[in-house]
Amino acid sequence: MNCQANIPSDFHGTVKWQSPSNIALVKYWGKKGVQLPQNPSISFTLSNCRTETEMSFDVSDHFSLHFQFEGKENPAFAAKIEKFMLDHIADFPWLNHLSLNISSSNSFPHSSGIASSASSMSALVLCLLDIDRMLQGKTDIDLQKTSCFARIASGSASRSVFPVMALWGKTNAFATSSDEYAVSLENQINPIFKTYRDAILIVSDAAKSVSSRAGHSLMENNPYAAARYAQANRNIESLLAALRDGDLETFMQITESEAMQLHALMMCSNPSYILMRPNSLNIINAVRQYREETHVPLCFTLDAGPNVHLLYPEQYAGSVETFINESLVRYCTDSKWIKDCVGNGPKKIEVER
Ligand code: PMV
Repeated sequence: MNCQANIPSDFHGTVKWQSPSNIALVKYWGKKGVQLPQNPSISFTLSNCRTETEMSFDVSDHFSLHFQFEGKENPAFAAKIEKFMLDHIADFPWLNHLSLNISSSNSFPHSSGIASSASSMSALVLCLLDIDRMLQGKTDIDLQKTSCFARIASGSASRSVFPVMALWGKTNAFATSSDEYAVSLENQINPIFKTYRDAILIVSDAAKSVSSRAGHSLMENNPYAAARYAQANRNIESLLAALRDGDLETFMQITESEAMQLHALMMCSNPSYILMRPNSLNIINAVRQYREETHVPLCFTLDAGPNVHLLYPEQYAGSVETFINESLVRYCTDSKWIKDCVGNGPKKIEVER
């Protein structure tokens, strides 16, 4: 036994977790303190866009870390992970006595323009918390704690820990909500929302010109920041009610308005920047026209990038996919789009050794 961290001297093994990306409906944009949100946010947990991370560990006389992404060294990501772990050595003192070998890969193509920090950071934290669980002799991982550490690694990652839908950030409209961690909304929503599909139209797969981190900090001097945070809080209240009642009209109105506000905030930052592309707008216009003509409850949202997520209940999948293939793939780079849907949250993969 290592007395300081209670590690058996032969402690070694491998843990492996798959964790999904998520798409925010009410957006987190602007932070304070230690990665705390300026306003609450709500997201769908996705299914097909995910990261798989394997972490092997062996007792060692000091902490060491080796990281590979998709079979290759990735010094930038390795440095980010190492910093995160060293920052939390007091929470996981056993890290001082382990050498870690981490390999990670994404289910979505390399250059798809899909942000991977939510899936990758939640998968990483799940591996860490799993080792912590073993050392504490517990049977289950504490999801609240996982969400809390995932939040510190990357804000939106806090929501990926839960199936179907999650809410992160304190709101009076939800008693157990917190700025520190996300909570599950799985049992607070009308069943229609569990059938939702997300078609991700890849307008551009180029790296973003302004990172999310820089975008969050530009909110500090954004002249519309206070109005935005107040509006986001009102949107959370209305969206929670719409989710409970199965009110698709309100759901669509808030979801689209949130995407537009996010991008408007970027345009009003100093310096101003634009992440939408002409084809993002072409898709938005076509979706609005299609909805008016067909009354199919199809709506869009955007992340901090040019790609457009189309959200719709499963029962409309046939019509929407025909619409995408006939009218929207022309706006996608190399006709690329990804079929995703609401998912069941992270999954532990048993490793045979
Ligand atoms: O988690 P971050 O720091 O990458 O920020 C995510 C920001 C948005 O994706 C634009 C909104 C959100 O709530 O996910």
